[in-house]
Amino acid sequence: MTGKTALVTGGAGFIGSHLVDRLVRDGMNVAVIDNFSTGKRSNLGSDATLYDVDICDENLLGVIEEISPDIVYHLAAQISVSVSTREPVEDARVNVMGFLNLLEALRATTLPRFIFSSTGGAIYGEPDRNPVSETDPCRPESPYAASKLAAEGYLGTYKAAYGLDYSIVRLGNVYGPRQEPHGEAGVIAIFARAMLARDQVKIFGDGEDERDYVYVSDIVEGFLKAAEKGGSTVYNLGSGIGTNVNELASRLIALTETSVSPEYGAPRAGDIHKVSLNAEKAREQLGWEVTVGLDEGLKSTVEFFQDEANR
Ligand SMILES: NC(=O)c1ccc[n+]([C@@H]2O[C@H](COP(=O)([O-])OP(=O)(O)OC[C@H]3O[C@@H](n4cnc5c(N)ncnc54)[C@H](O)[C@@H]3O)[C@@H](O)[C@H]2O)c1
Repeated sequence: MTGKTALVTGGAGFIGSHLVDRLVRDGMNVAVIDNFSTGKRSNLGSDATLYDVDICDENLLGVIEEISPDIVYHLAAQISVSVSTREPVEDARVNVMGFLNLLEALRATTLPRFIFSSTGGAIYGEPDRNPVSETDPCRPESPYAASKLAAEGYLGTYKAAYGLDYSIVRLGNVYGPRQEPHGEAGVIAIFARAMLARDQVKIFGDGEDERDYVYVSDIVEGFLKAAEKGGSTVYNLGSGIGTNVNELASRLIALTETSVSPEYGAPRAGDIHKVSLNAEKAREQLGWEVTVGLDEGLKSTVEFFQDEANR
C-alpha cells in the first residue's frame, strides 16, 4: 500500500492518531477527517492532510472526491456509552447517519476498502461465556453498542448490494498515551491522570467488573493486518484476559505511588459486568496477537501522563 492514500476518519483522536502515525511511517499518503469534538490538533504531526469536517456534513462527498482514498479506516464516532444512554438519538445521528453519509459518499466515488472500528467490549452485551467469540450472539445493552451493530449490519448490506470489501475489528478496551477521559474505555486515562495529580478516583459499582485491556500499538497492528487481508469479515482484537477495576486501580496506585484510595459509587447504566474477547480468529487468519502485556502497557501510559503533567 506504500504510496497509496489512506483516509482515517477520527484521525485526531486517541486510536486514530496512533494509526495515522503508523501509516505515515509506512509511506502512505494519509488524509484525516475529524470535527475535533473529542480529538486534538496536537495529536497530529504535519505529515497528514487534515480536513476539519463532520462526517454528518452534507458536503462530505466533495471532500471524499478530493481525497480519493484507496482505503478508509473509519474511527470517527460518538464513543461514550453513558452519553449514548442519555442521548440515543445523538449517538445514532453520528454512529449510524454519519456512518451512512460516509458510505454513500464512498459509493458515489471509488468504493475503496473499508475498515470499521467496532466494539468488542459492548456489542455482545453480557456474554454467556468469556472469552466471547465473533460467532456468539450480539445483544447490545446500550445505544452505543446498538449503533455499532447497526453499522456492522449496513456493511454486510453494502457488500451484497454494491460489492464493498470491508473488515470489522471489534476492539477490547484500548488504552495508552493520548487517551482522553471521556471514551468508552477511558478508565486507565482517568485513573492515571487523577492519581498523578493526587486526586480521588471513583469506581462505579463494586469494582469487580472485568474488561479486556489492550495497548494501543497492538490495536494499530490489528487494523493494518485486517486491512491487508480484507474479505468482509469480523475480528475480535483482545487478549482473552479479563482484568477487574479494583485490580487495575491497585496496579495504577503502585505505578503512580499515590496513597489515595478509590471511593465507590453507583453502577452506570449500560455497563457490562464481565467481558473478554477470544481473538483466536485474528491469530489464525491475520497472525495477530497481543504483544504488550498490562504491566508494560500501564507503565508506558503512566509515564506519558507524567510527562504531560510536567510539560
Ligand atoms: N477506546 C476504546 O477502547 C474503543 C473500544 C472499542 C471501539 N472503539 C472505537 O474506536 C474509535 C476511536 O475511538 P477513540 O477511543 O480513539 O476515541 P476518540 O474520541 O479519541 O476518537 C474519535 C475521533 O472522532 C472524532 N469525531 C467524533 N465525531 C465526529 C464527527 N461527527 N465527524 C468527524 N469526526 C468526529 C473525534 O473528534 C475524535 O478525534 C471509535 O469508533 C470508538 O467507538 C474504541
